[in-house]
Amino acid sequence: MLFARDGAIVCGCDIDERAALQTVAELRAAGYTMWSRQPVDLAQPEEAAAWVDAAASKFGRIDILYNNAGAVGPGTYFKDLTVEDWRRATSNMLDVVFYPTRYAWPELIATGAGVIVNTAAAGAAHRAYGDAPVVLGFTFKAAVIALTRQLAAEGAPFGLRANSLSPGQVRIPAYEAIYSDPDQYSARSGLVALGRPASPEEVARCALFLASDAASYVTGCDLVVDGGSSTIRPAQRVPGAASATSVPVRSEKEQLL
Ligand SMILES: NC(=O)c1ccc[n+]([C@@H]2O[C@H](COP(=O)([O-])OP(=O)(O)OC[C@H]3O[C@@H](n4cnc5c(N)ncnc54)[C@H](O)[C@@H]3O)[C@@H](O)[C@H]2O)c1
Repeated sequence: MLFARDGAIVCGCDIDERAALQTVAELRAAGYTMWSRQPVDLAQPEEAAAWVDAAASKFGRIDILYNNAGAVGPGTYFKDLTVEDWRRATSNMLDVVFYPTRYAWPELIATGAGVIVNTAAAGAAHRAYGDAPVVLGFTFKAAVIALTRQLAAEGAPFGLRANSLSPGQVRIPAYEAIYSDPDQYSARSGLVALGRPASPEEVARCALFLASDAASYVTGCDLVVDGGSSTIRPAQRVPGAASATSVPVRSEKEQLL
């Protein structure tokens, strides 16, 4: 919706036909132009190629590729990982970025100012958790960040910019049951410096920035959109305070940690 509001002709797709049609209906009801193909499984090279080709021939060019599709599946610890888990994650998190990018690359190069925005995940490239089943998510999203940097390097001589965007916790409809539970909400939000998950729109606004001319000198970067959770240790909340935070008095040793 934000891209359309900013003047883009949006060409979407989704493996989930119902979700795709709902998006199309929302944009058209708001008076915007959107073309979509569904169902499209971007992890299948023929389907990704057909979607890209259809969009390019219908509208004559592709200026921006926003690779946001992805599905992590249930979290797993490394000791429990199966070959099937590994292959599914390769397909759901990496192939869905690789195939559309590979097929759209000539179109993006041809414009002389193409833009790629890839969705990764906060912490993926720089952190690891021993107490969370994130090995698949972090491994493949780190690969997305590395791939994006490489695209930026190879695309720069042709005026192409490529950046990744790394969300932390996002309150998407699929996680509503988790975030509407007060205990789970405060446990999760307690890990975030800003004390709450992002809304999907807050993430999309950052994608729009990276795709727009406002970011004309930004390439090869990973924009972290995580409310500070990967860089800032959250301060303790003051009981009774609505939104203020307080840094408790800490020993010298704690302050050095
Ligand atoms: N929600 C979070 O907390 C969070 C955190 C970090 C990163 N991310 C990333 O954000 C991106 C968007 O996810 P979301 O959280 O909005 O979830 P979402 O499920 O709302 O959106 C993902 C969309 O991708 C589609 N999709 C999945 N696999 C596909 C395939 N093979 N082909 C075509 N479409 C496919 C799904 O049907 C869905 O509509 C993903 O790349 C995800 O990994 C999300």
